[in-house]
Amino acid sequence: MALVSAKEMLTKAKAGKYAVGQFNINNLEWTKSILLTAQELQSPVILGVSEGAGKYMCGYKTIVGMVKGMIEELNITVPVALHLDHGSFEGAKACINAGFSSIMFDGSHYPIEENIAKTTQLVNACDILGISLEAEVGSIGGEEDGVVGAGECADPAECKAVADLGVTMLAAGIGNIHGKYPENWAGLSFETLDAIQKETGDMPLVLHGGTGIPEDMIKKAISLGVAKINVNTECQLSFADATRKYVEAGKDLEGKGFDPRKLLAPGAEAIKATVKEKMELFGSVGKA
Ligand code: 13P
Repeated sequence: MALVSAKEMLTKAKAGKYAVGQFNINNLEWTKSILLTAQELQSPVILGVSEGAGKYMCGYKTIVGMVKGMIEELNITVPVALHLDHGSFEGAKACINAGFSSIMFDGSHYPIEENIAKTTQLVNACDILGISLEAEVGSIGGEEDGVVGAGECADPAECKAVADLGVTMLAAGIGNIHGKYPENWAGLSFETLDAIQKETGDMPLVLHGGTGIPEDMIKKAISLGVAKINVNTECQLSFADATRKYVEAGKDLEGKGFDPRKLLAPGAEAIKATVKEKMELFGSVGKA
């Protein structure tokens, strides 16, 4: 199956009260693990690429080639969207040109008027090409230079203004943050989410910072209109932990030394387990 826009899978998810997982990719092994798990579980899936990961993997065109090649060679038949995560305006245009099927433009750090103006330009371009577009209102907190910033709560009226531009999905801050949640985290603001969903109607809402949110909060967020949940840190942690254990066990040291394929295999298996757990929790299994 060719890469698809995320529109149809997210419209179905919102109507069916489940969420599609966005799992960020960083290399070939992660991508393969996520695609194979989605296929095994018959779940739609969104592969997220940050601009940093894009540079690391030799640019957006390389990634499009790798993902399309894998879909064909691994006989992946479930819907797969290749999505830019937290894109700048320039990054969004570069990914559109490179052949991504979905884009996030994160204009949350601009004044709302500028966020609206830039998002509007991308709505027009994405519409013509059949690419899905995610916009963001209210910045998602997270760790920067060792300081963990609290997640903002978006203004529901601003969310409505951006949703009305014709974007496919909307990320709205509801106290969520990227990376690990601090001990004193206040939790998600369901009051804000409820108000946003009332203002934005059928618009699929996106929950960033999916690592470490308690299960009951994930389920409640889905019941209040969240149709896409992003996960990155948890895949990083499981990959790193499995790789560290393999290295510490000191296997494979004789002869030529470490075989890179053996070295990365436990991490790849760990990512499969993490993705499976999340797809089951989000309710997307069997929804392809
Ligand atoms: P985590 O790294 O907290 O899982 O968040 C991922 C994310 O929201 C990517 O946009």
